[in-house]
Amino acid sequence: MTRLPDPSVRPAGLADQFGRVARDLRVSVTDRCNLRCTYCMPAEGLPWMPKAEMLTDEEMLRLIGLFVRDGVTQVRLTGGEPLLRRSIVELVAGIASLAPRPKIAMTTNGVGLERVAVGLKEAGLDRVNVSLDTIDSDTFTQLTRRDRLADVEAGLRAAADAGLTPVKVNAVAMRGINDESVADVLAWCLERGYELRFIEQMPLDAQHAWHRSDMITADEIRERLSRRWELTPLPAAERGSAPAERFLVDGGPQTVGIIASVSSPFCAACDRTRLTADGQVRNCLFSNTETDLRGPMRAGATDDELLDLMRGEMWRKRRGHGIGEPDFVQPDRPMSAIGG
Ligand code: 5AD
Ligand code: SF4
Repeated sequence: MTRLPDPSVRPAGLADQFGRVARDLRVSVTDRCNLRCTYCMPAEGLPWMPKAEMLTDEEMLRLIGLFVRDGVTQVRLTGGEPLLRRSIVELVAGIASLAPRPKIAMTTNGVGLERVAVGLKEAGLDRVNVSLDTIDSDTFTQLTRRDRLADVEAGLRAAADAGLTPVKVNAVAMRGINDESVADVLAWCLERGYELRFIEQMPLDAQHAWHRSDMITADEIRERLSRRWELTPLPAAERGSAPAERFLVDGGPQTVGIIASVSSPFCAACDRTRLTADGQVRNCLFSNTETDLRGPMRAGATDDELLDLMRGEMWRKRRGHGIGEPDFVQPDRPMSAIGG
């Protein structure tokens, strides 16, 4: 039997009551996006966050610095689309100058990456994950409601050339849209040396239209890929807190990952915490509560007071996301305002 720490004694650092400690901070730097993926946003977009509510670079860097002081070792910048934040390169440089310097990663849709890949690398970005669900131009346009596949391809090439490696590609499979062509996406990534990971679609769409029965499961993806390649699971020990189950493709060395966020949650090993563009700490993608840091910070809170608020939010982290349980409630905040 695993022994849980005594919940009445809260340890220092970003710990919760189930023995997990946050090391991976995801910062949503903007809720805006230049695509309109049907599983994320309505065609007309969403009411964007007013500028006054968004953290300035200076505020963001102060909070990220506190997370790093409290044990965070990797910072991932997300959105919306993080490249839409005009100061993104300076923000990366600011994070890279923190001590101890965290690893810095970004999750982007790749549009516009071609232009800034070198600048981001020079500022200190270590690697990127690019979201790409299909390599068929018509399907891409239908899915994202924008004809930008060529931009994403150019962005991926630029990222690899700039050394933002390993370049990873994230794909969500959807029934009747791109589920028949998951193997084509893998073949395309293998040819170019990108590491592909499929992610089960989670109930995080702004439209609240997700149904479990529509979701393409990790098992289905594995079965489809296995028709073309031999997949050999990598030992679980190599996985750690990483959510993807990874497989060698035809004996390797290249791999493919499948992230079974819904059908086989990895909550027990989760080491993530999140900061939204308007300065709220979230202890989980699916959290229904947040802790505001912006208000207290603007009212003059000290570093220790802010740390205490961050730790308090992490301490309240639930054991799991609870998707499929009768009392599950999808968070109000859509994915585009949380970050992947
Ligand atoms: N379920 C799973 N992944 C999602 N993404 C966006 N919405 C969902 C969802 N409901 C992915 C994007 C991108 C990353 C930020 O999260 O495709 O890769
Ligand atoms: Fe933009 Fe990502 Fe949402 Fe697509 S999934 S609309 S790229 S935030």
